[in-house]
Amino acid sequence: MDHFSYRNGVLHAEDVAIPAIAEAVATPCYIYSAATLTRHARVFRDALAVLPSTHIAFAVKSNPNLAVLKLLAGEGYGADVVSAGEMDRALAAGIPAAGIVFSGVGKTAGELLRGLQAGIGQFNIESEEEGVELAAMAAGLGLTARAALRVNPDVDAGTHAKISTGKAENKFGVAYDRAAGIYARLSALPGIEMRGLAVHIGSQLSSLDPLEAAFAKMGDLMRAIRAQGQVITHMDLGGGIGVPYKADEVFPSPAEYAAMVARVTQDWGVTLMFEPGRVIAGNSGVLVTQVVRVKEGVAAPFVIVDAAMNDLARPALYGAWHDFWAVTPGGDKMVANIVGPICESSDTFAMGREIDVMQAGDLAVFRTAGAYGATMANTYNSRALVPEVMVHGDQWAIVAHRIDPATILAAEQVPDWLK
Ligand code: LLP
Repeated sequence: MDHFSYRNGVLHAEDVAIPAIAEAVATPCYIYSAATLTRHARVFRDALAVLPSTHIAFAVKSNPNLAVLKLLAGEGYGADVVSAGEMDRALAAGIPAAGIVFSGVGKTAGELLRGLQAGIGQFNIESEEEGVELAAMAAGLGLTARAALRVNPDVDAGTHAKISTGKAENKFGVAYDRAAGIYARLSALPGIEMRGLAVHIGSQLSSLDPLEAAFAKMGDLMRAIRAQGQVITHMDLGGGIGVPYKADEVFPSPAEYAAMVARVTQDWGVTLMFEPGRVIAGNSGVLVTQVVRVKEGVAAPFVIVDAAMNDLARPALYGAWHDFWAVTPGGDKMVANIVGPICESSDTFAMGREIDVMQAGDLAVFRTAGAYGATMANTYNSRALVPEVMVHGDQWAIVAHRIDPATILAAEQVPDWLK
């Protein structure tokens, strides 16, 4: 459920008419609904309340906006970060260091050090090599790093290949068969407190079955590690729950997810950790765009919008579907190709899509853009970095300003020899 709806024929974000924001901020811009974020955060948290001991770390990569993190901090969420930059954002939003999980397959020595100095709650280490490095660094500083070992369970998540992470050939985690040995070796080192295992098999999962299979394998591994004498008090089950991008899609609910987790983990005796991203942020945001012009095509007209693949990369990268709604639909429909202005054909949001009839100047939104939207934006074609707005009831505020091409140009310089 979200808080984007038509009132008197005009699409609103909560109680604010979207044209009012578009006029003030200009397009393209992202709009997040605080009520939707709050609702999703609570539904997920309340669903997990059937489990004895949990920690929820929002996957910052899905939406790292400071205001979004602040809102989630207020809902008791920790953070799952994958870079020092994300860690700084989580800390700036008031998320306690102890509630932060530092994940990532390529944490640099500098990032490990920053995490140690900040007192990060848990490092999810992705290799024996990283664990040895972290332990030595912590021991040298007289500190102890709390850590979990990320394991690759070799389970097919059944999602898009580019967002699958749990197959043996993927770069993430340590091989399942080697994990118990690595855990034992790392547990014996000074400077590191091995406290658990972590798993994340992919994103936008439409079925709970691969998650259940992965968690069951992790339970077996946990028992084997305990049997060989090491301690496990925490199990991080990652994120990955999908959301509907089309109105008629049905996805597992947080309650169904929690029931599955409860069933699989009932005798584990650990604190369960979760790293949801998309399920919290996805449907809480839209990307507002304006039609530049409608151009005749061969099979269907091209609706050229002022948003592009640099603002919302998912259709170009994964062939992802985002619903496209007119902000003030007239009732008639047309079949069109929706494209951006960037000079490559991958800058296509949809082909042959039935949409509301659109004309130059009309406003529209790409739905379900709150996760992996603005966070993946860039400035290709020397376009601006897209701004972000948050709505709260009848209030709204810019939560990330547009960064103009001129500002980006100002960061560049011509070397002396070219002057
Ligand atoms: N934990 C780890 C270790 C992850 O790698 C991810 C996502 C998450 C948690 C959060 O997953 P979620 O609950 O959001 O599915 N850019 C892609 C998605 C990449 C996901 C990367 N990892 C997209 O736009 O679909």
